[in-house]
Amino acid sequence: MTTKQFVEEALTKPFGTVYADKMAVAHYRDGSWTPFEIQETKPFSMHPAAHVLHYGSTCFEGLKCHRWEDGSVHVFRLDRHIQRFQGSAERLCLPIPDAELVDSMVCELVTACKDWAPAFPGSLYVRPTLIGTLPSIGAAAGPSTEAMLFVILSPVGDYFSGGLRPLKLLVSEQLRTAPTLGMVKTGGNYAAALYATRQARAKYQTDQVLFAPDGFIQETGAANFLMISSEKIVTKSLDPSFLHGVTRDSLLQLGGKMGYEVEEREIAVSELLEWAKTGEAALSGTAAVLGGVGQLVYQEENYRVGTGEYGAETAKLRAALVDIHRGASEDTFGWLKKI
Ligand code: PLP
Ligand code: COI
Repeated sequence: MTTKQFVEEALTKPFGTVYADKMAVAHYRDGSWTPFEIQETKPFSMHPAAHVLHYGSTCFEGLKCHRWEDGSVHVFRLDRHIQRFQGSAERLCLPIPDAELVDSMVCELVTACKDWAPAFPGSLYVRPTLIGTLPSIGAAAGPSTEAMLFVILSPVGDYFSGGLRPLKLLVSEQLRTAPTLGMVKTGGNYAAALYATRQARAKYQTDQVLFAPDGFIQETGAANFLMISSEKIVTKSLDPSFLHGVTRDSLLQLGGKMGYEVEEREIAVSELLEWAKTGEAALSGTAAVLGGVGQLVYQEENYRVGTGEYGAETAKLRAALVDIHRGASEDTFGWLKKI
């Protein structure tokens, strides 16, 4: 099978289950980073006492490259993702990789794997990952002073199966993560959200859980949450309790330019249920792009959001963002970098 055929087939498979044949790898030892290598994507070994395996010292990023109609490949807001990656590493006491190192690893790997970038509407998902590799089960002895940084690539289609269908969310007052760790993109936060998401899927057939501790909207396990109308976009203001999405930021900037009023503030569940009578709601994220919400379940009651379909304003905003991704409209923000 050619790479092109392999990539086309990957888009029919669940998100993030097919990988490019090359990965980029660097190690942190004795106080500095080794030069990175581009090597075959294959399993690697580590000591069974590696810090990450016991104490979850890991963080990652998720960003995308988009292929334009002329065949060129462009990475979206790499600098911003690197900044967040460094912030996560710092909070987890992992060696913080230099921005230049991560930038070169991503750009050189994507250059080596250009054929793996699918045509629109597919994209090439980029997953930089940092793990603490020091063999040390004495957690009290402190953080991992050895680390491995790697970047893998995955050709992807839609995150939510079934295309642009309206999503169903369970609004839950459970905590997604420890309050000051929400803004850290660490594996433990995702492991912590799995149980609630699986229970909700089994009981209510929901796509995601919308976490709303103390009755205030936070985010879902894989995306930020926005309320959208023809006049405004409302979303939670930034604090350490949730992930500061790059897509959220992009949509707020873009929406402001399109004439939407942008409100960043707390949203009570009661306000959301009132809003849902006429307004739209959506999930934003690199993987999700902008998924329309059609239905909410809260305290055993069902609530339709807007018309119950993927909202018209949501579709307008999504199209504006996607048009920048694929080079169909001008990138006036300077978000894309040609590989
Ligand atoms: N919130 C969570 C928990 C996520 O996993 C993601 C996805 O990365 C987001 C929000 C959205 O972030 P971004 O737009 O940077 O992908
Ligand atoms: C992303 O959108 O990049 C994420 O990291 C979410 C993940 C669950 C796929």
